[in-house]
Amino acid sequence: MTVLASALDTGGPDYAAHRAAMLGRLAALDAEHAKALAGGGEKYVARHRGRGKLLARERIELLIDPDTPFLELSPLAAWGSDHPVGASIVTGIGVVEGVECLITANDPTVRGGASNPWTLRKALRANEIAYANRLPCIALVESGGADLPSQKEIFVPGGALFRDITRLSAAGIPTIAVVFGNSTAGGAYVPGMSDHTVMIKERSKVFLGGPPLVKMATGEESDDESLGGAEMHARTSGLADHYAVDEPDALRQARRIVARLNHRKAHPDPSVPVRQPKYDGDELLGIVPEDLKTPFDPREVIARIVDGSDFDEFKPLYGPSLVTGWAALHGYPVGILANAQGVLFSPESQKAAQFIQLANQRDIPLIFLHNTTGYMVGKEYEQGGIIKHGAMMINAVSNSRVPHLSVLMGASYGAGHYGMCGRAYDPRFLFAWPSAKSAVMGPQQLAGVLSIVARASAAAKGQPYDEEADAGLRAMVEAQIEAESLPMFLSGRLYDDGVIDPRDTRTVLGLCLSAIHTAPVEGARGGFGVFRM
Ligand code: COA
Repeated sequence: MTVLASALDTGGPDYAAHRAAMLGRLAALDAEHAKALAGGGEKYVARHRGRGKLLARERIELLIDPDTPFLELSPLAAWGSDHPVGASIVTGIGVVEGVECLITANDPTVRGGASNPWTLRKALRANEIAYANRLPCIALVESGGADLPSQKEIFVPGGALFRDITRLSAAGIPTIAVVFGNSTAGGAYVPGMSDHTVMIKERSKVFLGGPPLVKMATGEESDDESLGGAEMHARTSGLADHYAVDEPDALRQARRIVARLNHRKAHPDPSVPVRQPKYDGDELLGIVPEDLKTPFDPREVIARIVDGSDFDEFKPLYGPSLVTGWAALHGYPVGILANAQGVLFSPESQKAAQFIQLANQRDIPLIFLHNTTGYMVGKEYEQGGIIKHGAMMINAVSNSRVPHLSVLMGASYGAGHYGMCGRAYDPRFLFAWPSAKSAVMGPQQLAGVLSIVARASAAAKGQPYDEEADAGLRAMVEAQIEAESLPMFLSGRLYDDGVIDPRDTRTVLGLCLSAIHTAPVEGARGGFGVFRM
């Protein structure tokens, strides 16, 4: 056994300061999550309940197996935009009749559940997760369709939603639509394209055009029920496979559908007994310094998230600024890459490329724990080939076929974000801690670069340089980049799948690893690009 030792001084002032800062950030995060939970606010929630309807999360709770967790994804979508936090849809992974499913639920208390550009991005991300991990999809539908004022941003790309449903189906991934209310116009294609549909008596409204539109188009007089009610679709059009008498009945029927899917995971659950880490996960609050320039040892994090704190380090003496090694998490074998001193040098990059290839040979998923300021710059390093070595690592990450999980703990700057499997490199899941920051470079560095460029430009034109204006500009740019680097801002733009409490890291990664093993985990045996040696 290779159990990690810990040097964390939980009685010391550093730990107390880091913990206090993290708790402060978590309180701020809770306040933003509360906005998503509040949906459209008291007035619309009360009206919805007054209509005898359940809220989106209550529907999910009745759908999933009792006392099982729901891993909600992208709860802060639309943060910092003109649209409400949460983007009028709830998405996540839950267990239904023992089957891990990707569940989406429109929030009808937010502008009638209409889809704005962030709703669309969140829904498309959910589909991507379902597809990559072969998770059956259950859509709990009640939406006013496109958010009309922002239609120009969603009409054309929004077509992908319906395309996705049928592509999932074609790939053998079951799709189920339960219609609780409005699902009109484009929305009608959600049940229309799904493998299984459930509609609710006097509640579901599924038509291409409502009575006013029909009157305008053809002059025909009609009503909601005859155009698109559950009874009509169950008896006459045949669009409804299941007729439910109320919301709980619809959710019960959806559970029965899942029970009969015969959906099998590609891999059985791990057979090894799961050992808890030796160290208390609560201590994850006190590891990351408030100032990200101060390095921290990621082994302290690894020791608190992997089974038995047991970690077999690979090449510990070579490229020590990147920690690599093997462990198990909730019984699943994993390879871990974690930044130690922040900067990635040539040896770290080469070590990473080799480690990623090994994981692919062994079919072992990889976890990337980010705290990097990027690849090293400077004459010595350029001459030493830092570009080609960084490229080697990015090549390995890009063409690796084992599932990747990324967690942004601290800094995730520059090409280091790419090499550590940032968002554009398709990690199966990516989460950030409240302490994370991500951008092309740090705010001070970026402001400094702009200032040097402006000074050189003025000199080239023979103009004097306004030092006072420069100081003002630097401060402004620094503040802007700082704000744009923060996890809530990035989460709002769907650059992660959620900002998580560090204490939940082991649980969240465990849930993800279980979901991931629904699809075959197979590494790339070859198929990497040309490694520039
Ligand atoms: N785009 C933008 N805002 C919308 C919207 C849409 N598609 N649908 C509803 N809203 C807004 C309403 O303007 C209202 O805002 P307000 O409270 O600030 O006035 C709020 O959402 C709630 O709508 P309301 O009609 O009061 O709720 P409801 O629960 O009684 O009815 C709908 C919900 C969806 C049935 C109804 O609003 C509707 O038919 N909307 C238009 C549907 C449509 O034609 N969509 C285009 C399809 S592509």
